[in-house]
Amino acid sequence: MELLEWDARTYDSLPLPHRRWGAAAIARLALAGDETVLDLGCGTGRDAELLLGLLPHGHVIALDGSEQMLSELRKRLASQLHRITVLQADFRQPVTLPRSADAVLSVATLHWLPDHSEVFRSVAAALRPGGRFVAEAGGAGNLATFRAALRAVSGADGSELWNFADIAETAGRLEDAGFTDIDVRLVADPARLQRGEQLEAFIATVLLAAQLRDLPDKERRPFVHSVAERLPDPVIDYVRLQISARRG
Ligand SMILES: C[S@@+](CC[C@H](N)C(=O)[O-])C[C@H]1O[C@@H](n2cnc3c(N)ncnc32)[C@H](O)[C@@H]1O
Repeated sequence: MELLEWDARTYDSLPLPHRRWGAAAIARLALAGDETVLDLGCGTGRDAELLLGLLPHGHVIALDGSEQMLSELRKRLASQLHRITVLQADFRQPVTLPRSADAVLSVATLHWLPDHSEVFRSVAAALRPGGRFVAEAGGAGNLATFRAALRAVSGADGSELWNFADIAETAGRLEDAGFTDIDVRLVADPARLQRGEQLEAFIATVLLAAQLRDLPDKERRPFVHSVAERLPDPVIDYVRLQISARRG
């Protein structure tokens, strides 16, 4: 399937729980300040900016498939581009990096990648031995209520697009890819929004960009509105898969 483009400006204007998720994942990396860190699915560069602040002598490799996301990243980090390698690449295929990474961060991206065994092998290949991998993404049970609303409106619940893995299969795949010190958790983290414009912009931009791509323009807003109306509360029932591991 063709890679998804994102409405990167609207994305950044929303009350994203991703800000918290990114900051918490970065804290788990416990950086010393001179590392090279790969941000896999870096989006508009919010976490790359945090990383650069923690890496006075380090470097960030910012990888994403979306031109619009990377264009916002280049604007956001215009004064620091000499400390970033920006790579537009599709991580569903093996990607060769210009240098090996001491650590890999990935926030809200793994669930877009259908084959986690392949992804973890690629992450291991990108890391130096002993390097850290910290990630978070939608996990098993993610968006159950939201997906029921989506199914009621469209007949499909997104399972053909999203890969919400559980703890046991993730730990097994990490081990098979050569990781040690594996810690995998599932954490419920519902996000409450305001009904109306805010909720519907969030749904359209963050959750249903792929579904809306296939609809004619004039049908998009009514579609999003119908899904929003079917939610019992203006709450997105996120369940996050949190990963920490070390390359053996
Ligand atoms: C929900 S956004 C998260 C972005 C950022 N990490 C954040 O927390 O705001 C998911 C990101 O993954 C990227 N992505 C999805 N599938 C990808 C793929 N196959 N290869 C590279 N990037 C991909 C998207 O372009 C998008 O920027």
